[in-house]
Amino acid sequence: MTESASPYAMETNSSGDQLRFRERLNDMYRTSPLPLEHLVCNFGLYTRSSVLVKTLVINEIYELILPVPGIIIEFGTWWGQNLVMFENLRAIYEPFNKTRKIVGFDTFEGYSSFSSKDRPGQVITEGGYAATPDYPAYLRELLAVHEGNNVLGHLRNRHEIVKGDVVQTAPKYFADHPETVVALAYFDLALYEPTKACLKAIRPHLVPGSVILLDEFTWAEAPGEAIAFKELFKGSEYTIRRSRYTAERAIVTIK
Ligand SMILES: C[S@@+](CC[C@H](N)C(=O)[O-])C[C@H]1O[C@@H](n2cnc3c(N)ncnc32)[C@H](O)[C@@H]1O
Repeated sequence: MTESASPYAMETNSSGDQLRFRERLNDMYRTSPLPLEHLVCNFGLYTRSSVLVKTLVINEIYELILPVPGIIIEFGTWWGQNLVMFENLRAIYEPFNKTRKIVGFDTFEGYSSFSSKDRPGQVITEGGYAATPDYPAYLRELLAVHEGNNVLGHLRNRHEIVKGDVVQTAPKYFADHPETVVALAYFDLALYEPTKACLKAIRPHLVPGSVILLDEFTWAEAPGEAIAFKELFKGSEYTIRRSRYTAERAIVTIK
């Protein structure tokens, strides 16, 4: 699908010329002369800097949590690329850490239920960022395949995909797993109510050094995330700074 045929607008600051180069890059990817087995090992040929930066941020936060016990969570996974990167960074940095479970939460149905604290616009739209109906099963298998490919791959089930509205699923997850320690929580829900519900759910499970990544903390189009965070984390029990790779991601470390 070309980007112009996408069902909703992806976030972009690109000029018309840049969008045309992006379209051309997509064409060159579609018609790549590389055989498939070479293509999957040379994905950097077609990765734009604005996409590569996401990988750098994931690596930045993974390095921060190496000394911290506990699991990795992403609230708002979409296609699950971050979860796959976490799986592969786990294999690189701590291949023998059997306890570093990776859990992703999403409805896979896109945005819905806006509150008065949200600001729906071009990107934050009803149903925006929906995956396909069978996608949770595909993502579970994809993660299992990566896990099988990595060190200790015979130890299975170190991922969990929780499908449903996080307002219900996040509190239920922690009620079912009260022993959980959260080393890292990646927030990318954009909206006020679900972000607040998840921050509330994880709060008793954070420890000194736990990291919360806020994907939309400084983005005026999605004020709900920052409002929810500031309401719940008043006081001085955390430090916050921008990512070294992009001013758009805020990294919170619990004191
Ligand atoms: C911007 S996308 C996430 C992108 C992803 N983190 C990435 O970096 O590729 C936001 C996601 O939040 C999910 N979402 C929004 N509200 C939700 C809710 N109440 N419960 C569960 N998922 C929700 C949407 O389905 C969507 O997949």
